[in-house]
Amino acid sequence: MGIELRKLAATDGTDIYEMLQELPADENGFVNRAAGMRFDEYQEWLQYKVQESEQVGLVDGWKVPSTTFWLLEDGRPVGCGSLRHFLTDKLLEQGGNIGYSIRPSDRDRGLGKILLSLLINEGRKMGMDRLLLTIHTQNAPSLRVALENGGKIEKATDERTYVWIEL
Ligand SMILES: CC(C)(COP(=O)(O)OP(=O)(O)OC[C@H]1O[C@@H](n2cnc3c(N)ncnc32)[C@H](O)[C@@H]1OP(=O)(O)O)[C@@H](O)C(=O)NCCC(=O)NCCS
Repeated sequence: MGIELRKLAATDGTDIYEMLQELPADENGFVNRAAGMRFDEYQEWLQYKVQESEQVGLVDGWKVPSTTFWLLEDGRPVGCGSLRHFLTDKLLEQGGNIGYSIRPSDRDRGLGKILLSLLINEGRKMGMDRLLLTIHTQNAPSLRVALENGGKIEKATDERTYVWIEL
């Protein structure tokens, strides 16, 4: 089976739910809203995420639509990532286009690098021409993953490093 990326769907089940319960609610700016949800709440959230991904333009006047993907290794969920479809001034400062996370027990095996490369591919398919990552400057593994995927550092502050990937 190998490694594949699968788009979030309203029918996603317990395997994805269990992974989301293992990922922290907020880690280095990657926010996992499903952390701590009951299963029925997670199912509602999935429906919301599907709708959000299909929106064109800002949701509720401020929120940029995004599409979430799961990384599967031999059918087992090992990570997730989201692609924001476009940027606002606020996201240019903080947030960027891409967020990703690997299941804590599966880190440091090269999966983060693969996950970002597959997300970049999805961005390309969606017609994006460049992607911004705003990475916490202390987050060495994420910076490594971004640079190994062709990212170029535009600027860095003590807090954040701004990395662009041309598609
Ligand atoms: C960032 C993250 C996705 C990386 O996933 P991963 O599967 O561990 O990544 P990989 O194994 O592909 O690569 C990690 C790289 O960082 C390096 N690394 C790991 N820990 C490190 C450290 N403390 N200092 C420096 N480099 C480090 C690894 O050696 C590897 O580099 P290499 O390929 O040159 O050997 C994962 O750490 C994670 O989920 N973090 C929490 C969420 C997060 O920070 N997301 C990004 C912000 S949106």
